[in-house]
Amino acid sequence: MPKPQIESRKLKIAVIFGGRSTEHRVSCVSASCIIKNLDKTKYDIVAVGITYQGDWLPYSGPASNIPGDKWVEEAYRENDFTPAAGHNSLDLALAVIQQCDCIFPVLHGYNGEDGTVQGLFELLGIPYVGCGVFASACGMDKAFAKVQFGKAGLPQVDYIVAYKDVAERDPGAYVREVEARFGFPCFVKPAGCGSSVGVGKAMSAEELPAALSESLKYDKKALIEPYVECREIECGVIGNSDPSAFSPGEVRSTVTYFYDYDSKYVDGMNECIIPAAVPPEALERIKALAVKAFKAIDGAGLSRVDFFYKPDGTVLLNEINTLPGFTEQSMYPKLAISDGVSYSELLDRLIALAFERHDADKRCFR
Ligand SMILES: Nc1ncnc2c1ncn2[C@@H]1O[C@H](COP(=O)(O)OP(=O)(O)O)[C@@H](O)[C@H]1O
Ligand SMILES: [Mg+2]
Repeated sequence: MPKPQIESRKLKIAVIFGGRSTEHRVSCVSASCIIKNLDKTKYDIVAVGITYQGDWLPYSGPASNIPGDKWVEEAYRENDFTPAAGHNSLDLALAVIQQCDCIFPVLHGYNGEDGTVQGLFELLGIPYVGCGVFASACGMDKAFAKVQFGKAGLPQVDYIVAYKDVAERDPGAYVREVEARFGFPCFVKPAGCGSSVGVGKAMSAEELPAALSESLKYDKKALIEPYVECREIECGVIGNSDPSAFSPGEVRSTVTYFYDYDSKYVDGMNECIIPAAVPPEALERIKALAVKAFKAIDGAGLSRVDFFYKPDGTVLLNEINTLPGFTEQSMYPKLAISDGVSYSELLDRLIALAFERHDADKRCFR
């Protein structure tokens, strides 16, 4: 007798996007691409947007309205919610999210990529895509990530951690430290931002205080590094306890002296060369370093690990992004595609990894 067909239920995936960070804009573009590419025969999608003001709003309109925040007005209407009413819209969203099998946080930066929202998902007990609380928090804080990378013996750029209160009290303090350690030009960046927000170059001692105060608008801590003349290579990592790396790609900005926000997210302003045009041996070296960096912060699911490739072939780790961009132009999905993993298949894998990690973690509880 033929076995009765058991129809497997579609998985309900909560795609959360937007957020209060400086990377809200790119998160919206990433989310619309993810929604477009999630296999609708396998998944029912529940979209939840977070406005710049921090309202969490379930949104059932077209994904094409997510970029450029065209979803916001519709979502307020749909939920019969007005910002002035003083409700807590997180309650509204959580009621919807709790009905889902898995969460895909398509959030970058502050509150989305830094462990905050991951802690909420842990409390809800729902599997979620990507790194857990610690890895997210560590990856987001460039100063603490450097500590972990240093302990793991990873080659990286020298650095000084600059604190806002010290810089305000004694603006010359870091000028003296830079002169003693590595000199000029140097690079200054907020510890907890992404997408080149607040990043600047100081050519001389005179320029450092202004560059530093610009970075310190975005965080109370900034990193000062010697300027590295280099090409930029990015490597995608996927997996949980046994991660692997896709072949790395190179980013070339066609507009400015460094890879900044607009050249990253405004169409046609950067070029991705995949695989990176470096010797095969260097590609392998970078892949191994990327996996090591991922493990150094206890990564899970995915990360994009970014490197500097110097003219003499030296590779230095720059940073890890635990929730990299997912737009059509973004390096992470492009790297997967170049290695034969389609965008949709990549999403399937990331969702499967979320369940795998959730199951493994559950064993820790009685
Ligand atoms: N030490 C450095 N030397 C030269 N360029 C740098 C240095 N640090 C950062 N940059 C440039 O600034 C960009 C942004 O810095 P990054 O550390 O990647 O921060 P973000 O999190 O904002 O992407 C890099 O992609 C690179 O182009
Ligand atoms: Mg970067």
